Amino acid sequence: MGKRQKHSLKQRLLQSLGLFVAILLSIKLLFALPGLTQQPVTLTFLIGASEVPTWKELIKQFEAKNSDIRINLIEGPNATNLLEDLYTSAFLLGGSPYDLVYMDIVWVPKFAAAGWLMELSQLFPKEEQAKFLRGDLEGGRYRGGLYRVPVHTDAGMLYYRKDLLEQAGFKPPDTFAELMQISQALQKQGVVRRGFLWQGRQYEGTSAMFVEILKGYGGFWINPDTLEVGLDRPEAIQAVQFLVNTIRDGVSAPGVVTYQEEETRRIFQSGEAVFLRNWPYVWYLANKEDSPVRGKVGLKPMVHAPGQSSAACQGGWGWGIAKTTKHPEQAWRAVQFFSSSDAQRQFTLMAGGLPTRRELFKDPQLVQKYSFLPTMLEVLDKAVLRPPIAQYDQASDILQRYLTAAFTSQLTPERAMKAAADETRRLLGTKG
Ligand code: GLC
Repeated sequence: MGKRQKHSLKQRLLQSLGLFVAILLSIKLLFALPGLTQQPVTLTFLIGASEVPTWKELIKQFEAKNSDIRINLIEGPNATNLLEDLYTSAFLLGGSPYDLVYMDIVWVPKFAAAGWLMELSQLFPKEEQAKFLRGDLEGGRYRGGLYRVPVHTDAGMLYYRKDLLEQAGFKPPDTFAELMQISQALQKQGVVRRGFLWQGRQYEGTSAMFVEILKGYGGFWINPDTLEVGLDRPEAIQAVQFLVNTIRDGVSAPGVVTYQEEETRRIFQSGEAVFLRNWPYVWYLANKEDSPVRGKVGLKPMVHAPGQSSAACQGGWGWGIAKTTKHPEQAWRAVQFFSSSDAQRQFTLMAGGLPTRRELFKDPQLVQKYSFLPTMLEVLDKAVLRPPIAQYDQASDILQRYLTAAFTSQLTPERAMKAAADETRRLLGTKG
């Protein structure tokens, strides 16, 4: 082979190699292109402002692990009924921007009945469901379907000033009468201004609080199976009378009718009252370093009438997926992450809301910070649901209106509860 021939062979080889590399490169580019140009999917949801900092932290972690998903968090009002109104109007108007629905337990029947939520039982197998608290899970069902994965549970409790009770030689109260006696005794001694703080404003929190007092007198609101209404029964009237008496006797301030959870928590935390009805998140804040009542607070189930037992209202929040979402697969990935053990543990450590996975109630890290956790399981297993019916928000509205009328002495407890019962029966179509 001559020198020239050798050269042209080399050239041809080089040319074919170049072609080969070029083909390889373009194939690679062809596959890489969609990845380069594809925008991440955005999932949008609405949440109460006070929870935003905690969720931002969890969202950051989720996005770091899921580069194909971005979360657009919209900040809403804290009161559950206002948040519910915003979700409701978005779904009613059509074209809702929400992919995920951060839901209070009491919204589920309405949202499910309206067809706004995806049914989740295919995605959420029975073995996985069994790891969650029963009441929270049941609260996510409607007519056999499952519409919500619980992430944060709530049960109303009685907070008390351990130090003040000990100093005055009182045991924590079990009955409504004992709570009144202790309050009045400590108020008389000038130790505190007020006895008992509760949520009396016309909003959903009042209904939740009232369920506990009502059950503590042995009464009920609406039986979800028979739609029987118990609001004008003697036990319900006694329950309203008790709350009215707390204002009449100065155990609760007249201003209690303007209080939501946070107002009552702040007053209690500043040391001005002996007792507080509230959710478990208060424990975390009341025991923070800068809290004047740090280490001085006890927590127990709500007081009740003699012969009856304590009742905690079942509250709590969870995730649903909007039926209209264009990204159900990504939405489910987010729900799985946010309801995972690790995310729930972090939520509790950061904000004090309780988890919904049973195992976390024995988690050493959580129990160290929240010593009451193991005993909370018992309270939660017996917690009372607000009536799980599709017209719940309207029924709650009626109750709130007439409770306000009684709390502000516009109507006597009897008249208020008679009117509330009648209107509720009309709503449910059960008025004979
Ligand atoms: C808490 C509870 C919720 C309840 C609300 C009332 O957020 O978790 O279930 O409806 O308080 O204010």
